[in-house]
Amino acid sequence: MNVYERLENDHRRQRELARKLVETSGDSPERRELFAAFREEVEAHADAEEQTFYAALIAHPDGQEKARHSVSEHEEAADLLEELAELEMSSGGWLRKFEKLKDELEHHLDEEEDEVFPLARRLFDDAVAARLGAEFEERKAAEKAET
Ligand SMILES: [Fe+2]
Ligand SMILES: [Fe+2]
Repeated sequence: MNVYERLENDHRRQRELARKLVETSGDSPERRELFAAFREEVEAHADAEEQTFYAALIAHPDGQEKARHSVSEHEEAADLLEELAELEMSSGGWLRKFEKLKDELEHHLDEEEDEVFPLARRLFDDAVAARLGAEFEERKAAEKAET
């Protein structure tokens, strides 16, 4: 599996978890479980993506701008995840903040798939895309093991 297919698989999982989360209500076991899974998934994906895919992209002069932009969006998502983790799940503000994160995340995933990956496909040959896919897999497993 090349890096684009591998990352898109994760993106599907993130979209799915976010879609299920907006259907939960209050401080329920379902919301707690889904939010814990979503947070772990989004953080491990972003960290592993930065350590492998974006580290390679930023090394190309033509890839720097998009790589920096994506990393700053990861930081915004991490801040919102942190705020959500500290907010009462039963408050109305929790779902409003989660919806904001969901919108921003969907925008980020769409931008990666529609703009960043096509650019990377021009800069990386097939062997590099395959190697980055394997490196991503390894790094993500390591990130998840730490949580
Ligand atoms: Fe991604
Ligand atoms: Fe990302």
